[in-house]
Amino acid sequence: MLRTGAAGIYFRMDRRNDVFYQTGVDSGKGTSHAERIDIVIGSGRRGQSYLYWRNGLLFELPVSYLTGIGRWINSPGYPDGQIDFGRLIVPRCLECHSTSFTLRTDRGAVRYSRPYVLGLSCEKCHGDARAHVSYQSAHPADTAGKYILNPARFSRDRQVDNCALCHSGERDPRRPPFSYRPGEKLDDYLVRPSAQDVPIPDVHGNQVELLRRSRCFRARPDLSCSTCHDVHQPQRDLGWFAQKCLACHETHQHPMADQLGERLIGWCIDCHMPNRKSKALEINTPTQRVALRFRAHAIGIYPEAAAAVLKSHGVEPPR
Ligand code: HEC
Ligand code: HEC
Ligand code: HEC
Ligand code: HEC
Ligand code: HEC
Ligand code: HEC
Repeated sequence: MLRTGAAGIYFRMDRRNDVFYQTGVDSGKGTSHAERIDIVIGSGRRGQSYLYWRNGLLFELPVSYLTGIGRWINSPGYPDGQIDFGRLIVPRCLECHSTSFTLRTDRGAVRYSRPYVLGLSCEKCHGDARAHVSYQSAHPADTAGKYILNPARFSRDRQVDNCALCHSGERDPRRPPFSYRPGEKLDDYLVRPSAQDVPIPDVHGNQVELLRRSRCFRARPDLSCSTCHDVHQPQRDLGWFAQKCLACHETHQHPMADQLGERLIGWCIDCHMPNRKSKALEINTPTQRVALRFRAHAIGIYPEAAAAVLKSHGVEPPR
């Protein structure tokens, strides 16, 4: 149940015969509107949103779940106290949140249909596995591994593009959604943000543009997302990430080395990639506004963050 700030207006989430529904109720008017949860978006690490089918189109449901506070919330961008089941899901949303979707054009209007593959499977980053299997079956002697791509062999820019399809925030399209393939130049598909645009992470982050601004990235043409991330497994250990910094930086040269010693490594990420509140998006709940936090991928010197880390560990800041 999600109560809203408006008198008599609430949402009910329930399960009937193993099917989940969201119902918006306006008890003042005595009306209600229910739709089935057909598709779930998000693994739930931060939260989940829900979609329903109607006439070959997908619409967003008004209530989402936010993991951090363990509660139902108004879906991002939805004003509190309104019952709105009419938000169309655009193809670009699915391009970032699914591996593939079939888009048909029916009298000039786009329709979604089967088959579709939810979640991010290997082919989103490694290329078309089906083409690979059919080619290899027909040409068993060919060992080149056709159609399967190893992003490790891409240039740095193409490696970053492979992630920027989804991790560079909202960008205007140049070509239809779902046409980009790993290894291609993303700027041919999405308009590149100008250098003046300050990247502001919303619910979706913008790690690519932030990282591009860091001196590490600019000074080292081999630094890419994969320098620190292995996308094939969850990574939560900040000490492990700090080891990645030590591939290029030496602790004994650090201006605070004498003072911090071993502790330098443990807190490295918190001082130089602090968790920042996303400014663009605060999520409405009837009783509070919650901001999501993202790691500052603009690796740099953040004096306030460093001071806060020292303070929280009871260390006197250097003079
Ligand atoms: C540009 C690509 C892109 C578009 C467009 C996009 N998303 Fe996302 N979305 C992401 C990425 C990337 C994340 C993970 C963000 C992070 O943790 O840094 C995410 C996270 C989320 C989450 C939280 C997921 C979790 O596992 O906790 C939800 C819910 C969500 N998006 C819903 C939507 C909906 C609904 C739409 C369309 C209306 C949409 N997104 C459009 C890329 C996108
Ligand atoms: C989000 C993108 C993404 C997804 C999804 C993904 N990979 Fe990868 N994969 C990569 C990148 C990037 C690399 C290269 C890492 C590097 O530079 O070392 C890689 C490397 C690999 C390698 C190692 C190649 C080598 O040179 O050693 C294997 C094997 C692999 N992936 C298999 C898989 C399989 C199987 C799946 C599906 C279960 C999968 N990947 C899903 C991005 C992805
Ligand atoms: C097709 C869109 C897409 C592509 C391409 C993509 N990501 Fe993501 N990524 C997402 C979404 C969506 C999430 C949020 C997943 C969720 O929690 O549901 C995510 C989550 C992540 C996370 C957080 C995982 C966690 O559990 O904390 C990392 C790190 C990440 N991606 C790195 C990368 C890197 C590096 C690449 C390029 C090799 C890449 N992604 C390519 C869509 C994408
Ligand atoms: C691939 C090598 C590489 C990696 C990995 C790397 N850096 Fe850097 N970093 C550099 C280079 C090169 C510079 C620029 C040095 C210069 O210009 O003198 C730099 C600059 C910096 C600066 C100075 C920034 C400024 O704005 O003055 C800080 C702080 C920093 N790195 C911290 C980190 C941290 C923390 C990590 C790990 C999360 C990291 N770096 C990972 C290569 C790297
Ligand atoms: C120098 C190391 C480093 C590089 C390079 C790097 N990341 Fe990260 N990333 C981190 C760390 C550290 C975290 C925080 C992990 C945690 O808190 O569990 C993180 C977290 C994330 C998350 C989770 C959401 C968030 O912002 O907290 C996503 C998504 C992500 N990175 C994507 C990317 C993408 C895409 C690239 C390339 C443009 C990239 N990262 C490059 C170190 C790095
Ligand atoms: C307690 C916070 C804190 C920790 C922990 C920390 N740093 Fe720093 N770091 C700073 C501050 C503050 C500066 C700027 C100091 C100055 O200019 O006097 C700095 C400066 C740097 C510089 C620029 C050095 C230069 O000579 O200009 C690099 C590179 C760097 N840190 C990397 C790291 C790495 C890598 C780690 C982890 C192994 C780390 N730092 C741990 C706070 C921290």
